[in-house]
Amino acid sequence: MQKKAIITSALPYSNGEIHLGHVASTYLPADVTTRFLKQNGVESYYICASDDFGTPILIQSEKEGKTPEEYVAYWNKRDYDDFSALNIAFDFFYKTSSPENIEFVQYVFKKLQEAGHIYESEIVQFYCNNDKKFLPDRYVIGTCPYCKAEEQYSDLCEKCGRVPEEIGNPHCSLCGQPPVKEKTTHYFFKLKNFSEQLSEYLDNAPYLQKDVKKYVQNWIKSGLIDWDITRDISWGVPIPGSSGQVFYGWFDNHLAYISSTLKFLNNKGIDGKEFWNSADIYHFIGKDIVYHHFLFLPAMRLGIGQEYKLPDYIPTRGHLTLQAKKISKSRNWYIGLKEFLNHYPADYLRFYLISINPYSQDDINFDWDAFETKINSELIGNLGNFVNRALGFTVKSFDGKIPNSDEPDQLDKDAQDKIENFSKDVGTLMEQNHLDRALKKILEFSAHFNQYFQHKEPWKKEKGTNTCVFLSVNAVKSLSIALYPFIPESAQKIWSQLGMSGNVSEQRWQAISDITITSEHKLGEPSPLFAKVESSDIKTHKEKLGKQS
Ligand code: MF3
Ligand code: ZN
Repeated sequence: MQKKAIITSALPYSNGEIHLGHVASTYLPADVTTRFLKQNGVESYYICASDDFGTPILIQSEKEGKTPEEYVAYWNKRDYDDFSALNIAFDFFYKTSSPENIEFVQYVFKKLQEAGHIYESEIVQFYCNNDKKFLPDRYVIGTCPYCKAEEQYSDLCEKCGRVPEEIGNPHCSLCGQPPVKEKTTHYFFKLKNFSEQLSEYLDNAPYLQKDVKKYVQNWIKSGLIDWDITRDISWGVPIPGSSGQVFYGWFDNHLAYISSTLKFLNNKGIDGKEFWNSADIYHFIGKDIVYHHFLFLPAMRLGIGQEYKLPDYIPTRGHLTLQAKKISKSRNWYIGLKEFLNHYPADYLRFYLISINPYSQDDINFDWDAFETKINSELIGNLGNFVNRALGFTVKSFDGKIPNSDEPDQLDKDAQDKIENFSKDVGTLMEQNHLDRALKKILEFSAHFNQYFQHKEPWKKEKGTNTCVFLSVNAVKSLSIALYPFIPESAQKIWSQLGMSGNVSEQRWQAISDITITSEHKLGEPSPLFAKVESSDIKTHKEKLGKQS
């Protein structure tokens, strides 16, 4: 671990609401990791922004009769608010349409151009004579040449997932007229130039996932193609010296990782560039944008002479399905984050999603019944139960004052060992990005102490009661700190119920294994941490979802 870290997660398009699929793969793992790094004394900043440019956003704003500026401003704020409700704690949330990003993108373009990585080429594009517009990407709808599905976008068939070479029966998505073909001149980025350097980067990046590296290396071997980085639309970063053309959204968006970081750090009086280059760089993504993050992004950074260092970590996770079906906004098969949080606390969702989400490309599934079981049996039955039992008993039998421990027996010694090894056991998994396994370890710890408490039968007030109470309360303290990255609100509640001063967020990770609560410490007021998830509510949610699609 370096002493500094920049953490980003894929920038959400400011084009509709955040749903469970977004948070599972990207924002939540990044948030948990950032909180963990901070606990370890790493100077870490979690930076994000809305992805404002591109054809789909322009089309949608036109449909709603808004200017694109108004449209993205709305979603930038709404997304940020929804994330905040889940306690996704960005240090800074900015936008790709910021003046700083626009300036930075143009600067990068000029540097790439000077270095010979850009060329111009005349191409043929669809043009609508009726709307007087070039029609890139989603502006053209037609029949997929592969699977023959009708009404597909020219840049992606949602039926078969392929990118049509040339769409059949093309028509303009705005007016429905068939477009004509017109010549236009575009800039291309010579991605091919970087094949060797990219391959070397992947070989020498120890923290990138092996399986992802492997298939990206295969893409490189089978030949990269140069990127068309120009769009003939009005909404985007203007291309210097060209009238009316803008950069393709994937040319500018990832540069906002850097430009937003610089803005944030420079405002704090920190040299942003120096910080970036001496920090561990994390870009959390979903597996659908591997190509962009493992090839395009590093190639552009290489192309400007590594003025900003390449990512150390690109944690890539699979997609979330919903009740075993693919999430789709257009088919209304999704659950909005805001809607979900109207029914359940943020920590329930954080707990459930992290616990089912491995550090891999495997898809995971949101299932209402599994959610109910996880929360009721693990979060409440195991964790909540132990915390409440240990603290409740201490208050009832010792007036909340921790007793002196007496001579330990073997069970006590084992319990003490558990506490002493806990920070390392969980910390190692966290450092390896195995957040699900780390959470599982925490649950095992809690289950162990539940059993310990059961075996020691402190309510009989026999010899050994004091030690049991002493160690159990310290175990609760360990849990509070270990749980903080995962379920911060509940962790803070536990911390307060323990009668500890300050915030749990300020505690060092290492303190998990220190036995710091000593005799005479007075507990706060214990109360149940969680309310059960009711089966009848789950049934309602399932029915509602069924009607939605
Ligand atoms: N908005 C893109 C998407 O949702 C992700 C952009 S990530 C960035 O697929 F780094 F490239 F900005
Ligand atoms: Zn038209």
